[in-house]
Amino acid sequence: MELVLEKAKSLKGDISVPGDKSISHRSLILGSIAQGETRIYNFLDSLDCLRTLECMRALGVEIKKISNNFLKIKGKGLYGLEEPKDILEVGNSGTTIRLLAGLLSGQKFYSVLNGDDSIRKRPMKRVVQPLRLMGANIWGREDGELTPLSIKGNRLTPLHYTLPIASAQVKSALLLAGLYTNGETVIKEPLPTRDHTERMLKIMQADIKICPPKIKIRGGRELKGTDIFIPGDISSAAYFIIAASMLKGSQVIIKQVGFNPTRIGIIEILNKMGAKINILNHQIKSNEARADLKIEYSELKGLEISKENVPFLIDELPLIAVLATQAQGETVVSGAKELRVKETDRIKAIVSELEKMGTDIKEKEDGFIVRGPSKLHGAVCDSYNDHRIAMSLAVAALLAEGKTIIKNSECIDISFPGFKKTLQKLINF
Ligand code: S3P
Repeated sequence: MELVLEKAKSLKGDISVPGDKSISHRSLILGSIAQGETRIYNFLDSLDCLRTLECMRALGVEIKKISNNFLKIKGKGLYGLEEPKDILEVGNSGTTIRLLAGLLSGQKFYSVLNGDDSIRKRPMKRVVQPLRLMGANIWGREDGELTPLSIKGNRLTPLHYTLPIASAQVKSALLLAGLYTNGETVIKEPLPTRDHTERMLKIMQADIKICPPKIKIRGGRELKGTDIFIPGDISSAAYFIIAASMLKGSQVIIKQVGFNPTRIGIIEILNKMGAKINILNHQIKSNEARADLKIEYSELKGLEISKENVPFLIDELPLIAVLATQAQGETVVSGAKELRVKETDRIKAIVSELEKMGTDIKEKEDGFIVRGPSKLHGAVCDSYNDHRIAMSLAVAALLAEGKTIIKNSECIDISFPGFKKTLQKLINF
């Protein structure tokens, strides 16, 4: 599918964005292994989250979709999952495969996880290796680096482990595996990463202690089902926050966006670049912060983003390349090598597509350098079947003279069904 967009004058209006992707995955997984009912409000009904939903159903869990965004899960308790009769298909979802690898390692049965072309190229050793240290029987191509992963559940032993890379997916997989040990697992993070798993485990009454940079979890204690209210996804809101910041005369309000401190790197960076963002109606629900954001156009200046900032805005980095095209001076992103092993090599993808649109951008091994401001022009671009690349290019298209065609844009539904409609609602030509 092609997404065709033209230059916009400004963005104006009030919107909300769909539920947070990371929290939606976790609510399905933790709700399934909790005791009693879990009700999920504002669930993200996107392709990635539906993969997790189908996997949990294949593991014997009853999950009722009362509406697209409201689910009821009949929790099976820690030891109630059943052996799946077929391969568990995760599609494009790294969060599904890595978190489930942790969960399935501690079960009493055999299971196989597989995914699409992109998943079959992504590194799994980062999760397989520490799980093996806990006693997991887990295999994959290239000694467990590549999917399909096959797992013969085992009794796991607790682990004390320092993550070699900052990854919330790996951390979460190990916390899930830790639930199936009879001792204390201690995970130490090199840099803080998104902490939704820890927060949800806490409200489900797990035996968890959060003492940064360590997280300690004791296995064996049953989780309690609960109501989970999911805020809007800040990574989805980011497309409009940045577009409004760059287009003269814009004013956008985004309601009830997740404002977890481990996810707001994008707001902090924008503030440093000179953006005008007001945070209103800040509140906590289901142990997660949320707020309304009011964004107005402002003049921006380039800045440096280094390794320590990266985990807090990892998914927004391709979009920051777009933002940098309109900022005065140089924007340098370093320490972001992880971008090369996402749904696609996001450094290569964003550099090549933004170059086509007239950006002064240079690829670095661990990031990129953009010299702004540049006048962009429309081009025929490719998404590389990566949802975040497709939507970042859509934002670039709003600034570009002429028409931009984004090929293979159907991948947007992986995280943001309704993206085009929401954008159209805001655009003034
Ligand atoms: C996610 C963690 C991040 C992020 C991904 C979602 C999660 O990946 O890029 O989109 O839900 O835990 P890593 O943990 O691999 O950095």
